[in-house]
Amino acid sequence: MTNVLLEKKGHIAVATINRPKALNALNSQVLEDLNEMVEQVKADEEIYALVLTGAGEKAFVAGADIGEMSSLTKAEGESFGKKGNDVFRKLETLPIPTIAAVNGFALGGGCELAMSCDIRLCADSAVFGQPEAGLGITPGFGGTQRLARLVGPGMAKQMIYTAKNIKADEALRIGLVNAIYPVEELMAAAEKMAATIAKNAPIAVRACKKAINDGLQVDMDQAIVVEEKLFGSCFETADQKEGMSAFLDKRKHEPYQNK
Ligand code: CAA
Repeated sequence: MTNVLLEKKGHIAVATINRPKALNALNSQVLEDLNEMVEQVKADEEIYALVLTGAGEKAFVAGADIGEMSSLTKAEGESFGKKGNDVFRKLETLPIPTIAAVNGFALGGGCELAMSCDIRLCADSAVFGQPEAGLGITPGFGGTQRLARLVGPGMAKQMIYTAKNIKADEALRIGLVNAIYPVEELMAAAEKMAATIAKNAPIAVRACKKAINDGLQVDMDQAIVVEEKLFGSCFETADQKEGMSAFLDKRKHEPYQNK
């Protein structure tokens, strides 16, 4: 992988989209490396949380590669959309928590990539948008779906129909990001949050992610059953026994074992 770098730091990993000369634009090669990165993270039981960011000073990801898309046929366009959607869905359903550290432009496919993560933190210099309608296309890597679910259909439609970018403070106001940091503090903040997550019982954290994600796909009667099953499954873990024993013994729990 040259277009996506993966670095492990204890129980967290940092993945960096690495095509800074093109503002990390997503061409087929970057999508393939992103897919490979997600596979590697999924297979590594020692990684409990993932931070995703972009290389360089300017961009998280400035979108899907316009050069590659410019001459696509209808069938090729659909297939390129599927390629991105499949990878982003794989990222979204990665069992561990994911944090997008948005260090600059997050446009089109970049905004869509950030929305495929569980949590979005951004730099004060970050810019978000779905400029596709201005280029003659729709968002193609899940933007019409995830933006409407995250910020509500009204604001999503405004952003997508007008194709106008928004700055970090507006992204915070509409709930597209959780927090804004000075650009030089962003990665430390994202890694600190990932490390905080990684200190909690990993099986329980993964069950929380699954409960929230799966529960949102069904009605409330079914959703609470999703939670009950996952809640119950935690009582088979050594980490639950240690966590609750430590509380009752009024001591700090031992580091969790992911068991
Ligand atoms: N695709 C391909 N190349 C891109 C790119 C993209 N999405 N975004 C930037 N680049 C390239 C530029 O072509 C340029 O390359 P050269 O140096 O070889 O000319 C390099 O990155 C630097 O970009 P700029 O010179 O344009 O930098 P800037 O600071 O003047 O502007 C910007 C930055 C406002 C982000 C501008 O680059 C821009 O508007 N980029 C396109 C944003 C966009 O429309 N994204 C949506 C793409 S469509 C999509 O993503 C569809 C989907 O949902 C799947």
